[in-house]
Amino acid sequence: MNSDTNSPADNVTVNGERFRIFISEEEISNRVNELATKLNHDYAGRTPTFIGILNGSFIFFSDLIRRIDVDCEIDFLKLSSYGDAKISSGNVKLLKDLNCQVTERDIIIVEDIIDSGLSIEFIKKLITRQMPRSFSVVTLLYKSDCVKIDFKVDYIGFQIPNRFVVGYGLDYAQKARNLRSVYVLDK
Ligand code: IMP
Ligand code: MG
Repeated sequence: MNSDTNSPADNVTVNGERFRIFISEEEISNRVNELATKLNHDYAGRTPTFIGILNGSFIFFSDLIRRIDVDCEIDFLKLSSYGDAKISSGNVKLLKDLNCQVTERDIIIVEDIIDSGLSIEFIKKLITRQMPRSFSVVTLLYKSDCVKIDFKVDYIGFQIPNRFVVGYGLDYAQKARNLRSVYVLDK
């Protein structure tokens, strides 16, 4: 990665490949505000548990949760499906399980991106087995052309085309998570 890592730049190089700015810090921030406003409205009077999916959602999660003003709890699940590649291995593994109560609780999954949908399907099965009171999903990014799931994702930040993106938590072989904006791989 080049030396621009911590300053908003229009182009960045990650693992020797060029990426250009796709969604700016400001656009992300405005959209996170809108999602939080909707969640605060929809969960008024309840005590939801927000479950962040590690590692990718950690920045989105921390920005979103600080805008939530209903009483809430948090926990994290860690999954791995990509390894270091740009294409999903199609093999989802659970690397860290939950420590919170799910049964009878309002569960809100917080994802960085839904691509094929394999991870979110895996998560949904894992959670719904434990009979939550409700289950919903908030994702910053949603690759509409790729997703193959048979349930609705309730809160979507941005629908994006089938392109590889990094930044704001999303990585390429563990790099670029620290970038403040979302960048797309130059064709
Ligand atoms: P899915 O199981 O195919 O929906 O992929 C979900 C996971 O793959 C996400 O939580 C990300 O960690 C990773 N992923 C999918 N697309 C991208 C991308 O464009 N850039 C970086 N990571 C991605
Ligand atoms: Mg992820």
